[in-house]
Amino acid sequence: MNIAVFASGRGSNFAAVIRAVKKGKIKANLALLVCDNPKAGAINRAKRAGVKVALIKRGDFSSKEEFEGRITQCLKENGIELIVLAGFMRILSPRFVSEYKNKILNIHPALLPSFKGAHAIKDAFDYGAKITGVTVHFVDEEMDHGPIILQKEVEIKESDTEESLEKKIHKIEHRLYPEAIRLYVAGKIRSEGRKLKILSEEIP
Ligand code: GRF
Repeated sequence: MNIAVFASGRGSNFAAVIRAVKKGKIKANLALLVCDNPKAGAINRAKRAGVKVALIKRGDFSSKEEFEGRITQCLKENGIELIVLAGFMRILSPRFVSEYKNKILNIHPALLPSFKGAHAIKDAFDYGAKITGVTVHFVDEEMDHGPIILQKEVEIKESDTEESLEKKIHKIEHRLYPEAIRLYVAGKIRSEGRKLKILSEEIP
C-alpha cells in the first residue's frame, strides 16, 4: 500500500510514521510527502529518509479547486491509497474528501468531540480540563468530526504547564498514530457507520 503524508510544519508525527515503516511495524510504502509550506521541518525529514516530496503551495494557484487538483494529480501519479494528515494546516474540500472517502486519517491533540480546531492543547489547558488526550480519526466533510479509530487519554495535573502538557500529548501521538496506521494497513478496521470495530489479531 502506498501512503502519502500531508504536513505543513515540524513533522514530528511524520517522523514517527517514518520510524514505524522503517522498523516494519507499518507494512506499507511511504511514497510521498505533500507539503504546502517551503519552511516546514517535515521537508528535511523526508529528504533524510528518502521520501519523495511534493511541495504544492496554495499561493501558486488561483483557486482551492486548482490547488487540490494538483494534489490529486500527484496522488494519482504515485498510486496513493492512503492519506495521513499530520499537522496539515488546510481544510480539504468536501469534494476532495469524498474522492478519498475512508482513505484519509487525521490526528487531533484532544479527545474529540472536545476541543476541536487548531489550538486544542491550549484550549484544553486554559479550560481547566483534568483529562484531555489524542484522537486518530477518519476525515469526513466536517472538521475534526469523522469516525474515531483510536483515542488515548492524557491527565492534566495541577503541576502541568501548557508546555509540559504539549510534550505529554506529542509523546502519545507518536505512539498512537503509527498504531492506527498499522491497523488500517493490516485491514483491521471495520466500519459500521460512525462506529468502528478493530478486529482482533492473532498473537503469533
Ligand atoms: C500535532 O499535534 C497534531 O495532533 C496536529 O498537528 C500537530 C502536528 O505536529 N494535527 P507535528 O508537525 O507532527 O510535529
